[in-house]
Order: sequence, then C-alpha cells, then structure tokens
Amino acid sequence: MRIAVGVTGASGTVYGYTLIKSLADLGVEVHAVYTDMGRKVMEYECGLGMEDVKKYAVVYENTDLFAPVASGSFKTGGMVIAPCSMHTLGALAGASGRDLLTRAADVTLKEGRKLVVVPRETPLTTIHLENMLRLAKAGAVIMPAAPDFHNRPKELDELVTSLIDRVLNIFNIEK
Ligand SMILES: Cc1cc2nc3c(=O)[nH]c(=O)nc-3n(C[C@H](O)[C@H](O)[C@H](O)COP(=O)(O)O)c2cc1C
Repeated sequence: MRIAVGVTGASGTVYGYTLIKSLADLGVEVHAVYTDMGRKVMEYECGLGMEDVKKYAVVYENTDLFAPVASGSFKTGGMVIAPCSMHTLGALAGASGRDLLTRAADVTLKEGRKLVVVPRETPLTTIHLENMLRLAKAGAVIMPAAPDFHNRPKELDELVTSLIDRVLNIFNIEK
C-alpha cells in the first residue's frame, strides 16, 4: 500500500511526523510533501529536520509539480494532510493545485480516493468552517486535531498516537 502525506505549517507537526513514521513501520510506502512552513514549524516544535523524515518516506519538494503524486495515474490508497493550516485548507477548498501538496490533494479527490484533512486552528471563523464544509461535501474526511483523553494519557506521545490511530482506522490499517 502507498499513501501520500502532506504536512503544513500549522501547530502540531508532530502529528504528520508520527503518521509518516507509523505508516512506514507498518510497511506502507509513504510519499511526503512539506510546505515551507511545515518544515520550519516541525523544526521549531519538534527539533526535527527533513533528514529525519527521509528515513521513512520519499520526500518531494512542494514546488515539484512533476512528482508522481501530482498525477492521478500514480495510484495511492489516499492522502492525509496533518496538520492542515487554514492557509492550505483555503487552497484545498479552492482546488488551487498551485503547489504539489494542494495538487496531490486535488488529484486524490478527483480520483475518488480517501483524503483525510486534519485541520488545526482555534477558534474557527465562518471562512474556516465553510472551507471544511466544502471539502467534506467533495468527499474529504475532516478530522480535527482533537486527541482522545478518555484513555487518561500520561505522555504527549499517547495523545498524538490516539489521533494517528484514528487516521489509520480510516484506511483500515491495523497496528
Ligand atoms: C509556530 C507557528 C504555529 C502556527 N500554528 C498555526 C496553526 O495552528 N494553524 C494555522 O492555520 N496556522 C498556523 N500558523 C501559521 C501558518 O504557518 C501560516 O498561515 C502559513 O502561511 C501556512 O502556510 P502553509 O499552509 O503553506 O504551511 C503557525 C505559524 C507558526 C510560526
């Protein structure tokens, strides 16, 4: 199985990194795209760089519209954008396709594949909410970065994993 992962400059880049690592550990071929701010925020929040991500995924430049994930003929099981900034959410809702991340997401939707969007912002404006509604109507699964507390997590990792496990469930991936 092959899954595309987009990571943007919203807070919670640890979600994207953990997802990429979890998928790779489960034998899934991961194709990753980071926005510029995705890279910067991951470095700021997690102290991780792209060399860490490249251990687990094929990583493309966001400017590289010739990358395989930009084309519908490159078959994937779907795409996850985690975390998804409000900037990228707006671009997705407008079917922008101007960079690789938004193009790959648009391709995922047009091909009828699973697109999971993990937005991270609070509070939300009506613009944010309408963008989410628009994407949901087009078939995307909107999964806010809202981790579970009912398992009484003691570590940050448990909180992060609780959300990532829900994402894996969408793709019927068992740990
Ligand atoms: C430390 C940090 C945290 C941020 N957190 C958020 C956030 O949670 N949600 C959001 O929508 N934008 C957040 N931003 C702003 C985005 O990075 C900014 O809107 C950027 O243009 C997003 O670009 P991108 O979608 O291409 O990654 C944050 C920025 C920084 C520096």
